[in-house]
Amino acid sequence: MSSGHNEKVNQQLFLKRVPEGIAGPEDFEAKQLPIPECGDGQVLVESHYLGLDAALRLIVRDSDEFLFRVRPGDIVRGSAAGLVVESNNPKFAVGDYVLASGGVQNFIVSNGEGLERIDVSQAPLGAWLGGFGVSGLTAYFAVTEECKPQPGQTVLINGAAGAVGSIAGQLCKLAGATVIGLTGSAEKCVWLVEELGYDIAINYKDADWYEQLVEAAPERLDVIFDNVGGTILNESLRLIGMHGVVLLCGSTSQYTEEEMSGPSNYIWLGTMRARMQGFVIFDYVERYSEARARMARWIRDGRLKIPSYEVTGDVDVFPEAFQRLYEGKNLGKMLLKLPAAD
Ligand SMILES: NC(=O)c1ccc[n+]([C@@H]2O[C@H](COP(=O)([O-])OP(=O)(O)OC[C@H]3O[C@@H](n4cnc5c(N)ncnc54)[C@H](OP(=O)(O)O)[C@@H]3O)[C@@H](O)[C@H]2O)c1
Repeated sequence: MSSGHNEKVNQQLFLKRVPEGIAGPEDFEAKQLPIPECGDGQVLVESHYLGLDAALRLIVRDSDEFLFRVRPGDIVRGSAAGLVVESNNPKFAVGDYVLASGGVQNFIVSNGEGLERIDVSQAPLGAWLGGFGVSGLTAYFAVTEECKPQPGQTVLINGAAGAVGSIAGQLCKLAGATVIGLTGSAEKCVWLVEELGYDIAINYKDADWYEQLVEAAPERLDVIFDNVGGTILNESLRLIGMHGVVLLCGSTSQYTEEEMSGPSNYIWLGTMRARMQGFVIFDYVERYSEARARMARWIRDGRLKIPSYEVTGDVDVFPEAFQRLYEGKNLGKMLLKLPAAD
């Protein structure tokens, strides 16, 4: 079966060395390899979009402590949304769109396990890697099952303009809460309020950001949705409210640090009878379609936006895009749109 992909090559991205600080192009190496053979029972997928996940920086650390690990010489872990271009598996047909966790490369061969069929009538292809994919599902289950914001409550979300934060803020607004976002530039603050409906957005790079937060939350905070950890989390803890919830979604600020550090202001949890709650999206894998059905309705009704920030290029552009993610250039999910998507 030919679909023109035989003239192409498979560019794969490998980790060259353990990064220091923000990871950049010098830490990765792209290699051109032949397109893998599609064997018996297998499917060949051509990637159209690759997702850029902040958590990649955590798993390229020189440590076995985390759920996954990518070592120098390994192909970089990553998820793709793409098209089935060859199939010897009755469950998938040529022309199906699928999600695949096959690493950062143009072509993925799979026996079908872990491949998820994409219905592009629910949300566009790239969205399935972002707001309609794991990032959005993380926001959905963290908000609806753990944070459970109520009308009249005040929620603080840091990393607010990112892939998870941009959805979490909208979901908290749908629940009737007042939503305050923390992000890294004045432009992103304007976007949070005007595009996503955040009530207040504060640039955490302002010297007086904490004073701005105190003013924004006179009744204290019922929920802190924490994507970044570090100083931002630590300072915010001083404002946690009675029986508040601190949802530990991610610790982006710590992934680049040689020594990670935790919050010293934990004493406020005791005083305010508050709790810190860990969270991992994989606990909800059986409920993804239920969440997507609900989110698709909100998208159709114009109540939920799925923002993404697309960088265009081939697999070798991935490291530069990853660096830009850590520099905070993205509004919503950072995606790499590959040439095959055109
Ligand atoms: N628990 C789970 O199951 C789960 C699932 C998915 C993701 N996560 C976690 O959720 C967090 C957000 O992930 P994401 O994919 O949505 O990433 P993202 O927020 O789209 O991208 C990272 C953002 O972090 C901010 N940032 C970078 N360095 C920072 C620093 N030193 N201090 C504060 N902010 C910094 C930047 O925005 P600014 O301009 O605002 O600085 C950047 O845009 C990550 O920690 C990730 O590991 C957890």
